[in-house]
Amino acid sequence: MSATITATTGGPFARIYGFGSYRPTRVVPNSELVDRIDSSDEWIQERSGIVERRWARDDETVVDMALAAAERALADANITGEDIGAIIVSTVSHLLITPSVSSIVAGRIGSRGAALDISAACAGFSYGINMADALVRAGSAKYVLVIGAEKLSDFTDLDDRGTAFLFADGAGAAVVGPSDIPGIGPAVWGSDGTQAEVITSTPRRPRRTDPVLEHGDTRPLLTMQGQTVFRWAVAEMAKAAAEAVAAAGIKPEDLDCFIPHQANNRITDAMIKYLGLPENVTVARDITHMGNTSAASIPLAMDALRAEGRLPTGGLALLIGFGAGLVWSAQVVRIPG
Ligand code: UT7
Repeated sequence: MSATITATTGGPFARIYGFGSYRPTRVVPNSELVDRIDSSDEWIQERSGIVERRWARDDETVVDMALAAAERALADANITGEDIGAIIVSTVSHLLITPSVSSIVAGRIGSRGAALDISAACAGFSYGINMADALVRAGSAKYVLVIGAEKLSDFTDLDDRGTAFLFADGAGAAVVGPSDIPGIGPAVWGSDGTQAEVITSTPRRPRRTDPVLEHGDTRPLLTMQGQTVFRWAVAEMAKAAAEAVAAAGIKPEDLDCFIPHQANNRITDAMIKYLGLPENVTVARDITHMGNTSAASIPLAMDALRAEGRLPTGGLALLIGFGAGLVWSAQVVRIPG
């Protein structure tokens, strides 16, 4: 027999140690967008729940926002960058093919850990938490930094009625590390590439009125078949959420908090109904002030609840992300603190 190789094992389980987020300072109310898409503040609020969103400054990048969220998560977890053995950044809006956001952030926080970006759109944070859980338990890294960071305003068509009011910017991060008891439940995750075209991106067509394009802007624009995605989310994602609760070995009434991807308050309402969530479960509705920030929306929403004093620390939260791919991911986590 040939020689055996040594394999690592890590902590028996993993948990979230701390988290943090970054909100750009520029607030964009519905009134700023409605004229170009022949819409109204009332329509946007009624159909999506959005009152306002945040857009990053022109000179503010996905890296800047990811770093700000990461520094806050590290401070919250009481962990230094040197302790981080792997960094996973989920983003679909980084402007460069290389270097990755994760490697730049690693350098800035003083980590020499493995660094990779993943593209799992609005499911990306939940994907990242699942991957971090696996890395910690396998002993591949002791502490993993998971970041969702997006500057979707760079890719939003302000003349598209279906998306102009929806997408926004921000970042959120969490530190995952070893634990004696499970702090991250099994992920119910997957993809349906047969529906890849329902949220996609298309090359920009130069518009005379757009001064940026005259200088050769090649960023594509996001397009979405809103109703198709809406119906899919209500029908299929509610089921995935219920499966994640069952996989964690708990019942919906055992949850303290529900933090879904902030895509549409009506989708959130449909999931609450399907799950039969009791009234006392705290529900994140950060979309009202943040719009849809894709991979950043779940950690941003978690941090918003904490800032409002409404986060049930030490309790159980159901996370679910879903979006372009189509991809999805849900799991129950124990909220740190
Ligand atoms: O993050 C990834 C996952 N994304 C999602 O989960 C998003 C899922 N989709 C949605 O949230 C919804 O589809 C939207 C909020 C984007 C749109 O809401 P909707 O209820 O699906 O609108 P709709 O496209 O079915 O349009 C309804 C009506 C139409 O008029 P008629 O045919 O009923 O007379 C549209 O022409 O509203 C009209 N409409 C608008 N009116 C004012 C469409 N867009 C607008 C608009 N302002 N911006």
